[in-house]
Amino acid sequence: MSARSRFARAGLGVLGAACALTLFAGTAGAAVGQPGADSIGDPYYPGAGNGGYDVAHYDIRLTYQPATDQLAGTTTILARTTQDLSSFNLDFLLKVSSVRVNNAPAQFSQADGELVVRPAASLAKNTDVTVVVRYADVPSTVEHDGYTSWVRTADGALAVDEPNSAPWWFPSNNHPLDKATYDVSVAVPDDVSALSNGTLVRTSKDIAGWTRWSWRSTQPQATYLAFLVVGKYDIHSGTAPNGQPFLTAYGADLGASTDAAKASVQRTPEILDFLSDQFGAYPFEAQGGVVSTGLGFALETQTRPVYSDRFFLRGSNTSVVVHENAHQWFGDSVSVHGWRDIWLNEGFASYAEWLWSEAEGEGTAQQLADYIYDYYPADHEFWQVLPGDPGPENQFDDAVYDRGALTLQALRNAVGDEAFFTIIRTWVAEHRYGNGTIEQFVALAEKISGKPLYDLFQTWLFTKGKPADSAAVGVSS
Ligand code: ARG
Ligand code: ZN
Repeated sequence: MSARSRFARAGLGVLGAACALTLFAGTAGAAVGQPGADSIGDPYYPGAGNGGYDVAHYDIRLTYQPATDQLAGTTTILARTTQDLSSFNLDFLLKVSSVRVNNAPAQFSQADGELVVRPAASLAKNTDVTVVVRYADVPSTVEHDGYTSWVRTADGALAVDEPNSAPWWFPSNNHPLDKATYDVSVAVPDDVSALSNGTLVRTSKDIAGWTRWSWRSTQPQATYLAFLVVGKYDIHSGTAPNGQPFLTAYGADLGASTDAAKASVQRTPEILDFLSDQFGAYPFEAQGGVVSTGLGFALETQTRPVYSDRFFLRGSNTSVVVHENAHQWFGDSVSVHGWRDIWLNEGFASYAEWLWSEAEGEGTAQQLADYIYDYYPADHEFWQVLPGDPGPENQFDDAVYDRGALTLQALRNAVGDEAFFTIIRTWVAEHRYGNGTIEQFVALAEKISGKPLYDLFQTWLFTKGKPADSAAVGVSS
């Protein structure tokens, strides 16, 4: 269909919707509906997520040209309505050219990170809906709140960020409360790779000079854990000892850190085995990692973390591999209910590093806890950030990680190893592929240990200042 006829039909659709509303409003059986909320209601990020529907699946099909940073294609969303809807929102920043809802052109508008979609006909509660969004833009030029999380590199780009990367590459219900499965298929010039989550289903060459990379992630996945990395990468793919696909990719420009990166990230299957012993079975269907010079941090992107090369500049670093892979349990499988619950991610992934150290004979968790506790004097601002409610500006402050891990050491000391690991494993099992709050974790810890733990968590997560030494080692009287 030509662009002109597409817009002509969109115009008709809008008229049709207006007529339907006038003719059938108040008539029995007509689903007139209300606009879906423009927020999922997370006080840390009021713009994040939307109301009125629940996404089941994203099918993201794109073409990316690194030379110009042109990203174009469609995202098809399979969702189910949770109310009668006259309109609904998606979170998206790139320029949209058309939206179809249940195969009919829909009216839409874009402002301030929200794509507002008004279907030709209202949507009834508890029905399946198919939304196709067509778009094209240059993501590195699209700023929101003064930044773009899309990183353009010499030969490609990265969409890897927390809490927000999706709005720069696909329209979504952008909040961990609404998880979905993914097919990500991206065509790029033959001399670069396009990497994403899960299993590489196939690569295909449909037109000369271009290769299409098709990935599939089959377990519920939060939007911030979906990623796209394009560029020149040295790819190693094989099978992990447990039979799962194991795919790693090292930037062709890593230089002297290449071997240290490989000596760390190639140990992912061993590290996942270790973590499975601690926390229960690995929740996902594939394993791996991507190491890139294009970012300054690491992120626990589902099934395949992405690491900055900076972690490997001075030699191997299994701690960061343990940290990002521990997030597969804490963050990816069990996701925050709201972003305030970030301790459930970072405190636990940091504590997993201590468990690994203990197993490797490089210092027990207690020794590492004592070191951190003594490192920060009582008047240090470190003790002023509350891991249990750090605020969006301090979501990734050291306190969330280190005081967060100290909290778990305090818990372990208070309840003993057996109860501690039962609490952790039960938490992971009960919230698998879902969400959890800090309050739910505290309640579970009290239930399993049979001990009152309110004061311990109050002291460690929700009270400014350096806890007294006895609380540091979790001695409860
Ligand atoms: N969850 C990541 C980690 O492994 C934190 C990334 C935060 N940095 C960022 N720029 N968003 O700790
Ligand atoms: Zn982390």
